[in-house]
Amino acid sequence: MACSARFLFLTTSMVMLFSAATAVDHIVGGDQGWTNPEFNYTEWTQDKVFQVGDNLLFKYDNTKHNVFKLNSTLFNSCSFPAGTESLAGENDVVHLTTPGRKWYACGINDHCLRGMKFAITVLANGPSSAPAPPPPSSHALSSSTSYGPLMAAMLAVAAFIFA
Ligand SMILES: *[C@@H]1O[C@H](CO)[C@@H](O)[C@H](O)[C@H]1NC(C)=O
Ligand SMILES: *[C@@H]1O[C@H](CO)[C@@H](O)[C@H](O)[C@H]1NC(C)=O
Repeated sequence: MACSARFLFLTTSMVMLFSAATAVDHIVGGDQGWTNPEFNYTEWTQDKVFQVGDNLLFKYDNTKHNVFKLNSTLFNSCSFPAGTESLAGENDVVHLTTPGRKWYACGINDHCLRGMKFAITVLANGPSSAPAPPPPSSHALSSSTSYGPLMAAMLAVAAFIFA
């Protein structure tokens, strides 16, 4: 019994290690952050692969910008009806937990109309998903953050084995 429990724990840990190692934190807009209505955020998305388990990091001054999660209709018309899901932190992290198309925009002034919006398609993560292409330079900055959970999971495994 003890043996199979340990095996199960190790198997689970390996799965955790795998997902921790492959999750990417995407800093929206790269060096620009979520700050510039003149920046083409659509272009920013184009060389990136978004997968379930990844995060979007919105970095901005919340006196100047915010983040709305919209549907396609609202996104196309830059409409922000009351009750629409929004964020107004400064270093907001959006966890991509489900696959599919997602739409985000800034709801301040005419920022959305000027181009401060983007849509992404989140791919299901799993053993069958295609390997990510070589990361573009803007990924290099963020990839190191994946090592936190990785280290934690490794320590947990080590603690279990040596306990
Ligand atoms: C942003 O870039 C995309 C893709 O290159 C392009 O289709 C779109 O027209 C650009 N938007 C603006 C506002 O320039
Ligand atoms: C988007 O949301 C608005 C407001 O809630 C709604 O009226 C509209 O039908 C929705 N569009 C889609 C494509 O779901």
